[in-house]
Amino acid sequence: MKSPLVLGIESSCDETGAGLVRDGRLLGHAVASSMDEHARFGGVVPEIAARAHVHSFTPVVREVLVRAGLRMADIGAVAVTTGPGLSGALQVGLAGAKTLAFSLGVPLYGVHHLAGHVAADTLEHGPLPDPCMVLIVSGGHTSLLLVRDLARDPIVHLGDTIDDAAGECFDKVARVFGLPYPGGPAIDRVAREGNPRAVAFPRPLTGPRDSRYDFSFSGLKTSAARWAEQHRLRGGEPPLEDGAASLQEAVADVLTRKAVAACREHGVGTLVVVGGVAANSRVRALGEERCRAAGVTLRVPPLKLCTDNGAMIAAVGDLLVRAGAEPAPLDMSIDPSAPL
Ligand code: KG4
Ligand code: ZN
Repeated sequence: MKSPLVLGIESSCDETGAGLVRDGRLLGHAVASSMDEHARFGGVVPEIAARAHVHSFTPVVREVLVRAGLRMADIGAVAVTTGPGLSGALQVGLAGAKTLAFSLGVPLYGVHHLAGHVAADTLEHGPLPDPCMVLIVSGGHTSLLLVRDLARDPIVHLGDTIDDAAGECFDKVARVFGLPYPGGPAIDRVAREGNPRAVAFPRPLTGPRDSRYDFSFSGLKTSAARWAEQHRLRGGEPPLEDGAASLQEAVADVLTRKAVAACREHGVGTLVVVGGVAANSRVRALGEERCRAAGVTLRVPPLKLCTDNGAMIAAVGDLLVRAGAEPAPLDMSIDPSAPL
């Protein structure tokens, strides 16, 4: 017998996402983003994000059904992000998901946003091996997670950034360099013409007495900004290609060094890298090189599944349904600062 079709809803930040998954297979996904509305404020404005979710919720759910050639009545379960995230934004998604589950008479499941990011890779590469190491790197997260069975065991949070996320570092330095937003892809592009050894940027939290699995990118951001400023004070323009290549090298070095060390120390044979920064060419190349040397398999999902989306939430819902997990009550609440 076929397992139920799961509709996943994501609304923790500025993306309203809906995805449809059955038996580990992605049947469709649709996303509306309010990114442009936040651009002139230099960051996500929670009130604007919440209003945008109200506006986009129904059209996005309708669009995903149309794309998959399915109807509302085909939905057999609803999964929704309960946290972490912006509370107003999460509330809109949860209210919509509850309404759908109640009116269709189907079970509702609450999903942790980071579990969703982890599960995204299963939609492209199949079930995750148990255990596996996951590095989540985006504009909002930089976390190293030890994952066993997503439907049954809690994720073990090994480390996190203590200040800025890796993507945030790229975005902020790009702004100082005068490169367009989002900064990560711009740095990646400019870095192709530069020398990654031109500037000796620091490798934060990699000393013998530092936390092995935590990250810090705020000092690196300041170093890059100061480097550019010093060139300008001397009346010249900084060689941005070299600055970008050296910054990218420092970020890729720290991320892959810590992730591969974590695999070694925990005897884990697979590393999954997810989030927008997983698109970075140097993170990928150095990750592949270091994983190969350590005998670790590297998995990176396609970019459309790396950024926030509803398919990844549906993927976790599908795992929960198939594991026979207990559905959530209809009075379930959001948990904006949910721990892992
Ligand atoms: O996962 P994502 O789309 O959104 C969240 O932050 O949740 O990640 C966006 C981040 C941005 O900081 C962006 O600059 C970065 O991912 N990014 C990159 C690249 N493509 C996107 N960073 C470095 N190199 C790239 N090629
Ligand atoms: Zn996210």
